[in-house]
Amino acid sequence: MKFQGSDQYVATPDLMLAVNAAATLQRPLLIKGEPGTGKTMLAEEVAQALGMPLLQWHIKSTTKAQQGLYEYDAVSRLRDSQLSDAESSQRVRDIRNYIVKGVLWQAFTAEQPVVLLIDEVDKADIEFPNDLLREIDRMEFHVYETRELIRAKHRPLVFITSNNEKELPDAFLRRCFFHYIKFPDADTMQSIVNVHFPTLKKDLLAAALKTFYDVRNLPGLKKKPSTSELLDWLKLLVAEDISAEVLQTKDEKVAIPPLVGALLKNEQDVTLFEKLVFMQRNHR
Ligand SMILES: Nc1ncnc2c1ncn2[C@@H]1O[C@H](COP(=O)(O)OP(=O)(O)O)[C@@H](O)[C@H]1O
Ligand SMILES: [Mg+2]
Repeated sequence: MKFQGSDQYVATPDLMLAVNAAATLQRPLLIKGEPGTGKTMLAEEVAQALGMPLLQWHIKSTTKAQQGLYEYDAVSRLRDSQLSDAESSQRVRDIRNYIVKGVLWQAFTAEQPVVLLIDEVDKADIEFPNDLLREIDRMEFHVYETRELIRAKHRPLVFITSNNEKELPDAFLRRCFFHYIKFPDADTMQSIVNVHFPTLKKDLLAAALKTFYDVRNLPGLKKKPSTSELLDWLKLLVAEDISAEVLQTKDEKVAIPPLVGALLKNEQDVTLFEKLVFMQRNHR
């Protein structure tokens, strides 16, 4: 069981190594990296490549650890208790009918090993990762309402992603294998673009990549454009039939690229860019 990338996903050797290391250690793989560097897609691709089902848990600011285990649906039970038909009164007697299984429960009781993605763990409050330590470590938890112990039949392959919005607690980090997806260099980026646009003209790609990295390297940018934004932009360039010449300036200087709204997402960055172009013109 080794992950080697796929035809839709470009995995660098160190990323493949990390996936396989986490699988060997049977520890969660904690993946950090800028937004749009393929963290979520990695879990999807690993699941597909290894032929394992994927269970996804997208974390929001309001998500609590308990929701991943189970929730007790008291409202439905109350409603059933107020109905007088036989079926409802039968159902209301067994509390198990009102226990809603969470993603971890489903992963623990699946018939075959699954890939479990806990996506954007840094969105939740600081207690969230701590509250999951025991479950992830021991692969078991108690259901207090029914006095059951739910224990994993198979250890899931756990992926945890973070955009680095918050620090994670040390006790949590100790239990993970860590990998940082570095922003792709130009060669890797070229392979990624090839996966998505196999028929893109070489000169357009070269010109677009140069412009893209020029924009990214602009000092003082508030939000650097990411892989997915480059892909969006390329899609537009193709759709609008924009040629490589439009992107290239004769004197190697920076010009405002067409459809820049795909790359720069706030007015300060656009202004910064315009200023730079303006200054260069005046220095001719
Ligand atoms: N290594 C890669 N190979 C192929 N496509 C990629 C890669 N990295 C990013 N992408 C593209 O960028 C998009 C965003 O990736 P995603 O996994 O959502 O990023 P993240 O979860 O890190 O924010 C993907 O849908 C895919 O189209
Ligand atoms: Mg993501």
